[in-house]
Amino acid sequence: MQHTLFVCTTCATVWKEGKPQGKSGGEQLLENLNKLHQNWDLKDNFTIQQVKCMSACSHACTISFAAPGKYTYLFGDLPVGDSASAILDCAYQYYAKADGSLPWSERPEPLKKGIIAKIPPLTEARS
Ligand code: FES
Repeated sequence: MQHTLFVCTTCATVWKEGKPQGKSGGEQLLENLNKLHQNWDLKDNFTIQQVKCMSACSHACTISFAAPGKYTYLFGDLPVGDSASAILDCAYQYYAKADGSLPWSERPEPLKKGIIAKIPPLTEARS
C-alpha cells in the first residue's frame, strides 16, 4: 500500500514587491526531508510529494500523512531546521499502524503540538 508524505513548499515564503525571495521555509524543509529519505528504510513505500499550500498557511511549515484506508493527518508549526528527522520517525509510526493512528504520547516532539487535522479514513459505501 502506497503512503504519501505531502510537504508544502510555499509555506514560509518571504515576499518582496510581489515576488518570492530565495527559498521558502517549505522548500528548505523538503530538501532536508529528501536528504534523509534517500537512506530511509521505507523510501520505496512512503513517497514524498511536494504541494503548493494545504490551506494552513498561518501554521507554516506544514506536512501531511495519507494512505488508503488510514487516517489523514495534517501537521503545522514545524521548524524548518530540525524537524525532518522527527517527521520521518512519525511517518514510520504511521506506516506501522493498520489505521495510521498516531496517539499524542507516541509522536515525536515537534509533531505533538503541531497537529491541525485528523481526518478519518474513507469507508466503502454500504448498499
Ligand atoms: S502556504 Fe503552506 S499551507 Fe498554505
